[in-house]
Amino acid sequence: MIVTIDGPAGSGKSTVARLLARRLGVSHLDTGAMYRAVTVAGMERGVDLADEAALEWLAGEIKIEMRERAGKLQVLVDGKDVTAAIRENQVSCEAYHAASNAGVRAHLVAVQREIGRQWGSLVTEGRDQGSVVFSKAELKIYLDASEEVRAERRRKELAERGQEAALGQVREEIRHRDASDRGRAVGPLRVPEGAVVVDTSEMTVEEVVEKLAGLAAERMKN
Ligand code: DC
Repeated sequence: MIVTIDGPAGSGKSTVARLLARRLGVSHLDTGAMYRAVTVAGMERGVDLADEAALEWLAGEIKIEMRERAGKLQVLVDGKDVTAAIRENQVSCEAYHAASNAGVRAHLVAVQREIGRQWGSLVTEGRDQGSVVFSKAELKIYLDASEEVRAERRRKELAERGQEAALGQVREEIRHRDASDRGRAVGPLRVPEGAVVVDTSEMTVEEVVEKLAGLAAERMKN
């Protein structure tokens, strides 16, 4: 069974996808981590991220590995652990270059479909998982939340990692990422056809996971 979870930054996708996958006993694929990995590789190698051809070439050159270790996702680029580096705020702000690059997307979409074939059952999260990559998934979810709630979640997440930021600044960054995610020509963020939309603004993580697990159980019966 394939479950896709798409939605904007701060909608709770990563936490929910990880817990739902554990609950269903399947693997979790965080596709945002792959766009982040390309970004980190570009920054480390001094590639101009705005140079579309150079970044596309790089995405084809590097080997991105996604592993689960003790229930945690580990991301490797050419064998080097970049799990912490991909979560830096600078990477969040610069990842739009990779995300809006058609060549990079084509490459990562192919890798994601191959992972889907190999893993068989998975909960996959991103911006285009239900609309493009796994458009025939058994269950498609679109998670949303108000901009205010998403900014506060993101601020808290950064603070927990020792990166203090003012709420207003985080809100601006979220706004910028939303505009970029929704406005790009390839793989834009949108509600996939047939997706169940869940607004998580007033819900706890446990409530969201419970709801999605119920939907998954229903789909499995049919
Ligand atoms: O979900 P995230 O913040 O880790 O995503 C990082 C970046 O990658 C963000 O700019 C959105 C983009 N992304 C995408 O374009 N398509 C996906 N399937 C996943 C993420």
